Amino acid sequence: MHHFQYKNDELYCESVSVSKIAEEIGTPFYLYSHATLKRHFKTFDNAFGAIERLVCFSAKANTNLAILRLFQSLGSGLDIVSGGELYRGIKAGFLPEKIVYSGVGKTIDEIDYALNSGILMFNVESLEELTLIQTRAKTLNKQAPIALRVNPDVDPKTHPYISTGLKKNKFGIESDVALEVYKAAMKMEHIRIVGIDCHIGSQITDTTPFKDALEKIKLLINTLKELGISIQYLDMGGGLGITYADEDPPHPDEYAKVLVNSLKETSLTLILEPGRVIVGNAGILVTSVLYSKRGEIKKFIIVDAGMNDLMRPTLYDAYHAIEPVKKPKGDFIKADVVGPICETGDFLALDRNIANVGKGDLLAVMSAGAYGFAMSSNYCSRPRCAEVMVHQDHFEVIRRRETFQDLNRGESIPSFLE
Ligand code: LLP
Repeated sequence: MHHFQYKNDELYCESVSVSKIAEEIGTPFYLYSHATLKRHFKTFDNAFGAIERLVCFSAKANTNLAILRLFQSLGSGLDIVSGGELYRGIKAGFLPEKIVYSGVGKTIDEIDYALNSGILMFNVESLEELTLIQTRAKTLNKQAPIALRVNPDVDPKTHPYISTGLKKNKFGIESDVALEVYKAAMKMEHIRIVGIDCHIGSQITDTTPFKDALEKIKLLINTLKELGISIQYLDMGGGLGITYADEDPPHPDEYAKVLVNSLKETSLTLILEPGRVIVGNAGILVTSVLYSKRGEIKKFIIVDAGMNDLMRPTLYDAYHAIEPVKKPKGDFIKADVVGPICETGDFLALDRNIANVGKGDLLAVMSAGAYGFAMSSNYCSRPRCAEVMVHQDHFEVIRRRETFQDLNRGESIPSFLE
């Protein structure tokens, strides 16, 4: 059952009319369906059947506290990439023992915070990082559980900005070097080797790259065994893609089957870090048409959401379907859907065939639940928009719209300028 659907030509999220929410709280806002979030998490988790695993939702895709709490309540762990995400995770109720921490640039403060919290494991991305973690763990008198993030050098065939498992990418440690780093880790008194990790990229729409990466990781696991290093966790990262336009990504069942088949002989606990596949199609961005205008060669629909609210079209040339919240009668037009920001790059869609909407009409930017609000900013001093969650016939604001006062929170005029 799809939870964003039309009833009498009007868009609903579960049993709530999208226009009714807009009337009450104004636009723009992100809107999430509780039922969809829950179904996506469960579908993904259940896909792994009886195999030992921990699904760690990737916080970076959507860090709203309410969304994190929902996944926590469903048994999820959390994949984090910063001290801020650790803070949010703990606030949302995640047990630190279910939190894995990736990222190439962990700072001393972040490492200490994670050590003191007692996270499940650090996914370590360099020898220097490993050495720092050892030093900090010694100072704090802790044992640091680690996995090495191995760069398996497979091409995920996705947008270059979001492919991470190639030799030319900054992520992880090359397979042959990883062995040496594992050996070094063995000698470090405050390091406990617990796993191996890889993450090859995002919005991957084919199972082959995952399979190839896993085969390479398995070879490494065998070599580790020969060295007497036995590990407990195999973290395969995230990356499963979704349908934005006409992509045909594998269903989580198919993705899981590929991994599970290849893991039959092991007794490892599988860790997965899905982000987009869980939240991407569980959220939309609702925006109002401010004006339309006709240039000499183009039509423009000017809306109240800009690139600061949804960065993906500008940054990755990403496609998001845009649907009218109330289907108008009449023709489609071809237009650019643009925001109010003073940049040519401020668009949500270019040359799009779209219903002929006008001033005051509402548009829904689809598939915006992942990397939407999470990547929004205050550029042009635009308060960040509200976020709303629908549960059946009820909705609640899960992040209020920012005010002008929020904009300069923390700023001050220095004494020499007073
Ligand atoms: N694990 C690690 C270590 C990651 O770096 C990422 C995403 C994930 C898990 C989750 O990947 P997912 O399942 O969501 O594909 N802002 C871009 C996506 C950047 C992804 C970064 N890393 C976008 O809007 O397309």
